[in-house]
Amino acid sequence: MANTKITKYICSECGHVTTTKTGKCPACNSWGTFQILDEPPPQSPVQNLPRVKIISALDVKPPARIATGIGEFDRVLGGGLVPGGVVLIGGQPGIGKSTLLLQAAGSVAKTYDLPVLYISGEESDAQIALRASRINTAGEKLYIYSGANLEDALRNLDGNNFAFVVLDSVQAMTTGNDSGWPGTVTQVRAVAQRMVDCAREHNIPAVMIGHITKDGKIAGPMMLEHMVDTVLNFSGEGYSSYRMLRAVKNRYGSTDELGVFEMSGGGLIPVTDKSGLYWNRDDSAVAGVAMTIALEGNTPLAAEIQTLAVCTVFQYPRRTSRGIELNRFQLLTAVIDRRCGIGANNYDLYINVAGGLSIQDPSADLPSCAAIASALRNIPLQAGTCWLGEVGLAGEVRPVTRIDLRLKEAARLGFHTAVVSSREQVKFDGIKIVRVTHLEGALRGLAT
Ligand code: TYD
Ligand code: MG
Repeated sequence: MANTKITKYICSECGHVTTTKTGKCPACNSWGTFQILDEPPPQSPVQNLPRVKIISALDVKPPARIATGIGEFDRVLGGGLVPGGVVLIGGQPGIGKSTLLLQAAGSVAKTYDLPVLYISGEESDAQIALRASRINTAGEKLYIYSGANLEDALRNLDGNNFAFVVLDSVQAMTTGNDSGWPGTVTQVRAVAQRMVDCAREHNIPAVMIGHITKDGKIAGPMMLEHMVDTVLNFSGEGYSSYRMLRAVKNRYGSTDELGVFEMSGGGLIPVTDKSGLYWNRDDSAVAGVAMTIALEGNTPLAAEIQTLAVCTVFQYPRRTSRGIELNRFQLLTAVIDRRCGIGANNYDLYINVAGGLSIQDPSADLPSCAAIASALRNIPLQAGTCWLGEVGLAGEVRPVTRIDLRLKEAARLGFHTAVVSSREQVKFDGIKIVRVTHLEGALRGLAT
């Protein structure tokens, strides 16, 4: 395009701007007041900002990772530990936090052939050494420090090329000039801050273990989770030997991954084939077993509902339940009888949620009905299917809360089909969704 810069004129009296220079200003009627308007050259909207950067000019290489070599752990982290990044891992006492981190520490030391420091304010040298030998991770470069003085422990990092540091636990240490016992809010905050500073300063990854309170929050100040880059939750289900690792927050990866481990006599074993967990087992082909995903707080939990039907020898058939409310169980049995024509009058019925779990959630209605009907008919349900729905007295199948969360968990655990209410609005591609309106439709294969 030709240079078409238009000359503009401004009235020195009233500021009226025009492109044709006239003798008289049409706005204020003054004479001979127009002058050429010198427009300033176009400028960037912001200038002189020495402390900010344009985002597109930044180097956006993904962070280098230090893989711990424990596949399930690395996957939940988003590919491994990040140098300078701090992870906080919480979980019930005895769940295996110390075991997991000692395994990770030993593995990093061995893989990278660099020193790793495991600081323990909870156990003695001898106890840690015993555990290390039990899980066979006592490498040459794995250093342990036992004691509650964080400064003393961290001094070892100076001038030595450590690859990784673990702090067990943030509630067991003291640091700095802040007085107070370990575990007090001021101490926990100071210890956490000191670990964050230390990781950044040495540019090595750090993991802090944290105790949790009764309601599942990491004990200490609220801001603890904000101070770190990643928060992990390590949990177990009932009395099962399986352990689940989830990211609650992750600045370096997604929070969608689920890591599964099995606690064995020789430490935690990563479980890579999740389908073996719940439905590929020998007992999944048994009649009377149905799977569901219950919610505990906001945490989805896979649960196995088992029912047994035996011919009764009593006048009144027995109904026994564990993990499901007895009244609910009786009600569901009545609904199956009346609405689906699957009678239970001649049978004693037992229902049980495996693993000692107790489910209050109404989403257990549909799996309970499926399990009861399957037991009464002595026909196993299709393996790899989970059932999620509330059942009304008319036999209608109703939606459940947080279906999105449950379906995601089901897919992660390797289920291939979910039976849900037809009123469920959810869209999710990770699993085949079978929508049912009525219990009769859901149990069609059984109601022969
Ligand atoms: P631990 O790692 O001490 O748990 P946390 O640090 O979360 O409190 O694990 C303790 C439990 O794990 C304990 O009950 C014993 C069991 N365990 C095993 O079954 N196998 C093992 O190899 C180890 C080291 C522990
Ligand atoms: Mg411990």
